[in-house]
Amino acid sequence: MKEEIIILDFGSQYTQLIARKVREVGVFAEILPYNISITELTKSNPKGIILSGGPSSIYENNSPKPDFEIFSLGIPILGICYGLQLITFFFGGKVDKAAKREYGRSKFRIKKRNQIFEDIPEEFTVWMSHSDRVERIPVGFEILGTTENSISAIFHPIKKTYGLQFHPEVYHTEFGKKILENFVRNVCKCKDIWNAKSFIVTQIENIKNKVENDEVLLALSGGVDSTVCAVLLHKAIGDNLKCVHIDTGLMRQNESETVVSLFRQNFNIPVELINAENIFLDKLKNSTDPEAKRKTIGQTFIEVFEQVAKEYPNVKWLAQGTLYPDVIESTTVKGPSATIKSHHNVGGLPQKMNLKIIEPLRELFKDEVRKVGLELGVPKWFIERHPFPGPGLAIRIIGEINRERLEILRKADDIFIEEIKKANLYNDIWQAFAVLLPVKTVGVMGDERTYENVCALRAVTSIDGMTADWFKFPYEILDKISNRIINEVVGINRVVYDITSKPPGTIEWE
Ligand code: XMP
Repeated sequence: MKEEIIILDFGSQYTQLIARKVREVGVFAEILPYNISITELTKSNPKGIILSGGPSSIYENNSPKPDFEIFSLGIPILGICYGLQLITFFFGGKVDKAAKREYGRSKFRIKKRNQIFEDIPEEFTVWMSHSDRVERIPVGFEILGTTENSISAIFHPIKKTYGLQFHPEVYHTEFGKKILENFVRNVCKCKDIWNAKSFIVTQIENIKNKVENDEVLLALSGGVDSTVCAVLLHKAIGDNLKCVHIDTGLMRQNESETVVSLFRQNFNIPVELINAENIFLDKLKNSTDPEAKRKTIGQTFIEVFEQVAKEYPNVKWLAQGTLYPDVIESTTVKGPSATIKSHHNVGGLPQKMNLKIIEPLRELFKDEVRKVGLELGVPKWFIERHPFPGPGLAIRIIGEINRERLEILRKADDIFIEEIKKANLYNDIWQAFAVLLPVKTVGVMGDERTYENVCALRAVTSIDGMTADWFKFPYEILDKISNRIINEVVGINRVVYDITSKPPGTIEWE
């Protein structure tokens, strides 16, 4: 069984970061809801438990509380922010509203040396975000360190229970990763190294044991997740993996061909290419509302896929490239949030297909999938490709979608990306694409009046797609792109550049 750290989620915006940081030091970490039962929690025999921060105050009536038996399991525990307050509360100390809310950087000073601070200087900068603080520590605990306004690190030597008021998981806390590493290596005594290589080895074993001699069907979207999923599965079960790629007719220039040839040439994995352009375009006829387009595409994808699956009667499993953030999203308790856009992904295929589901990447974050992909030999240029939305170009053609407009957009988009690559800017940009507007304007070309479409260009920088800033191109590059598009793409006579950040805009236009 692999060594594992459990993170109990009390609703902090940083919970995922804790998991990522622990994994970065080579130990597997899993996030579970704060109210998980002890039986579930101990199933994986965790070597340590981390209690995340959270927005609540410990004395509020509905403040989240775990099963307090966690403190009797004999497993080392580290409480962060709300986690520290929970520990203080449970063991009989006192937490109260601080006179001054502490938010942002603070100086932390070590009062007593401990293995959690090994190889860390006496004083360093930490990131705080709290309004409650520890007023009195519980009996049996020691103060390990303070910031100007609060007791910021406590420790129970027998119970191996730690509490930190600051957030070691955030980038702004100096030595934060080292503190987490000290906790998992020195205190929890984790010895194994968990990384892309070890993940691949164990996952191949798991897949083999699970699937045995059955056939598995996988829909390749052309994105990184389904690609890495396919290569991993192929390594485990060889030709029992059946890959299909559905060309919705909404893909970028030569995209479907590129996907199929990448698999055939690089990996010797056959892919059945299904041309479903007519079906999709037919269903999208007269569809101009963004949400209606998204729903139609999601629905049509399922219908087409169901048909395709019938060609593979021996298949018993459906493989999906589900990632860890989706898993957390569906298992942890989150407040209500408005649907901005209904996402369409290959995931969510119908249960009535009667296939068992296999999701070999479900414990990975996106950057970890990339590392696994590189380790498996997926070419770097493919791994580094910008994200592309499930509904494809349909949500980049504002208004009516038809073959002619798709063709115009593909050409413009292709030139835009080609010029970005030539200027060596592709990897500085999170996502870049062209959008075709349902607006015609007057122009003049070679003494002739033109009346053609407007094309908008969008390029943004971002860390995770949740927020984004528009990319500041050098003028001469925008100039070159605009010139090329207008000269080379029949049907476009004006190019504009989108300078909206997210929020308030979204990255895609629909
Ligand atoms: P927005 O437009 O919401 O996009 O700012 C954020 C990121 O999500 C991508 N996106 C999608 N990805 N299926 C996907 O797989 C979708 O339906 C979808 N819609 C938007 C978008 O390209 C950007 O990277």
